Amino acid sequence: MNTLRLTPQDAPLAARLLAQGGLVAFPTETVYGLGANGLDPAAVAGIFAAKGRPQDNPLILHVPGPDHLARYCDPIPAAAYDLARRFWPGPLTMILPRREVVPDVVTAGLDTVGMRCPDHPVALAILKLCQLPVAAPSANTSGRPSPTTAQAVWEDMAGRIDAVVDGGPCRVGVESTIVDLTVSPPRLLRPGGVTLEELEAALGPVAVDEAVTRLMSTGEKPRAPGMKYRHYAPKAPVTVVRGDPTASARYIAQRLGPGVGVICFDDYVNLFPGCPLRSLGPQGDRAEQARRLFEALRWFDGQDVTAILTQSPDSDGLGLAVTNRLNKAAGFHIIDL
Ligand code: TXA
Ligand code: MG
Repeated sequence: MNTLRLTPQDAPLAARLLAQGGLVAFPTETVYGLGANGLDPAAVAGIFAAKGRPQDNPLILHVPGPDHLARYCDPIPAAAYDLARRFWPGPLTMILPRREVVPDVVTAGLDTVGMRCPDHPVALAILKLCQLPVAAPSANTSGRPSPTTAQAVWEDMAGRIDAVVDGGPCRVGVESTIVDLTVSPPRLLRPGGVTLEELEAALGPVAVDEAVTRLMSTGEKPRAPGMKYRHYAPKAPVTVVRGDPTASARYIAQRLGPGVGVICFDDYVNLFPGCPLRSLGPQGDRAEQARRLFEALRWFDGQDVTAILTQSPDSDGLGLAVTNRLNKAAGFHIIDL
């Protein structure tokens, strides 16, 4: 298949391709998504094929605004509209009871569906033009770090999909926060651009799913099926060194050697001369860390490294999303100082 490279001005063509059953990767504020018409089971099946995604991992539906929720979900709790007013368009996915119109292939047979309204002009233009719920996982090959640039999508998807719309690098850099509103109290299934603190300010207490902070063993069933898979992982094994940044930098500096790659904060780069190295930005800037994380992990796949050691922020605010992705990339191989 010849994959088209499109620009934001091509949104009408992207919408038409989607309406015709095509697969189109497009930018959102979090990461690039791989979209298909969410009401067309054959088109949605194409997403699973292009990504090599396990069939039991459901997709989320993207809509242009809260007024589209009632088409696909029922009943809708008042909290969903409250959250949509506060955080949509934005990096928040809500798990809601699904209506029958949503095909099984989207929800992997679950009786719930994830709904999101992305905060990106290109994504919103496409959604408004096609007037369809667009099913879209991150546009990476299953298991690889999510793409935050059109180039990263191209590496994984060229020849497998109809088009990639290049909207520049993603502003948030990690995937949306997922909150399950079908349970009480509401449950955080995946941390992302909307923080746990912001959710609790809106909803009251929110439970944090165990899959966010620890490794699920084989046989366990996390509530977001995707959380059980090895994820975001470069080919070389990753070790997270957790603790005070001065101490973690020193710990890593003592373990350098041939084939050892380093992910660190800007503040410590000069401790690792000559190492294959990616910086996540200043140690206090979690937003920048989120933006750089996936490109850093992807970069190491082009390097001759056999191990990667990484610093880690603490887990408040956006730090919960950054540490979750780092820990998952490391298969929860963590050294606590
Ligand atoms: O920011 C994002 O959310 C990006 C952009 C493209 O919108 N999309 C994204 O999709 O990250 P994906 O498929 O890579 O991750 C969706 C996660 C998976 O872990 C999946 O298991 C979970 O959401 N999920 C989807 N539907 C669900 C449901 N009904 N119940 C529980 N978890 C669900
Ligand atoms: Mg994904």
